[in-house]
Amino acid sequence: MAQRKIDVFDTTLRDGEQVPGASLNRDEKLHVAHQLASLGVDIIEAGFAASSPGDFAAVKMIAESVKGPVITALARAVESDIEAVAEAVKPAERPRIHMVLGTSKQHLDHKFRKSEDDILKMGVDAVKFARNLCPEIEYSTEDASRSDFDYLCRTLEAVIDAGASVVNIPDTVGYAVPEQWGELIRRIIETVPNIHKAKVSVHCHNDLGMATANSLAAIKAGAQQVECTMNGIGERAGNASLEEIVMAVKMRGEFYGAYTDIDTRQIYPTSVLVRERMHMPVQANKAIVGANAFSHSSGIHQDGVLKNRENYEIMTPEDVGIEQNEIILTARSGRHALRHRLELVGYTFSDEKREEFDHIYARFLNVADRKKEVLDTDLHDIMKGETVEVPEQYHLVDFQAVAG
Ligand code: KIV
Ligand code: ZN
Repeated sequence: MAQRKIDVFDTTLRDGEQVPGASLNRDEKLHVAHQLASLGVDIIEAGFAASSPGDFAAVKMIAESVKGPVITALARAVESDIEAVAEAVKPAERPRIHMVLGTSKQHLDHKFRKSEDDILKMGVDAVKFARNLCPEIEYSTEDASRSDFDYLCRTLEAVIDAGASVVNIPDTVGYAVPEQWGELIRRIIETVPNIHKAKVSVHCHNDLGMATANSLAAIKAGAQQVECTMNGIGERAGNASLEEIVMAVKMRGEFYGAYTDIDTRQIYPTSVLVRERMHMPVQANKAIVGANAFSHSSGIHQDGVLKNRENYEIMTPEDVGIEQNEIILTARSGRHALRHRLELVGYTFSDEKREEFDHIYARFLNVADRKKEVLDTDLHDIMKGETVEVPEQYHLVDFQAVAG
């Protein structure tokens, strides 16, 4: 079967960054964006440019320096937002404006308080306006999973006619279930007469734990782009998880008739960088990147794996960039071991940076003298120049001596 390329649209820096406590400063955003480019994502949604001057500056900086992926940012369908995105993404090799406007009756009646026709006109006008500022426009029909099918199709047809080259169908509230969602995407592709002039994308949320399953059902039904985040972070229960979709497509490529351009060996380093920088730990049993994802605990499984890994493993840790960590960083670790581990968590040092590395090594030794083992979290603190807290193990509350 001919394999279709699926574009991976990463929104860790926009939908993911909306999570309380996960926000990043400009340099941190840039660092994550460079790592997403090494991962091989096709599109980076770098932020919501009109939300703050800081986010505008971060999007612009990413557009100026991250080469390879399309760089986009989110706008509401209003001129000021669209202008902000156009300006921020202009320096990119391939800029895109991503705009969003609801289509469900819920949003029309209780958010915009406008009629279907008024909102449709607002969307079309916004696309025409944006099209004069940027060659690539993506249009998202927010809350599509709860929208009237005919109105949704009418909207898609009109915005494609107005110049949208990607139409994104979001399950904004995580209401969809895989069979129905796949069927919706299939019907849209069959019904909207000019759909071949645009790429069809999906954006699924995880409120019922089905974001990955829904995204895959959409790929099976013909979607050409999936929107997702690293470690599945995002609003409420999160977005579809990049690593789960990518590995499912890779492991079951025959079934989906599809592939992505992701370098799967960069998955784990990206996951670690995102969890550390965005203060969003990953549960131990998280698929693909959790601490237990490749560990075998029952006696029967351990015995089976030792006889032949494939008895209980469908992929190897190395496939997703997890190096078996035989190297534990302690005060006795040398520069080579430190450099190796730093590279695994996303920091590289060229020869010109020797002096900087010496400085980092000295800081590392200082921490290692106080801790039994230096963890990846500590490495990020060392790199940021922050104090590494050595957790209190015991706290003396009282002391009483009794002699007999
Ligand atoms: O969840 C959603 O609908 C969104 C849109 C902006 C695509 O995040
Ligand atoms: Zn979303």
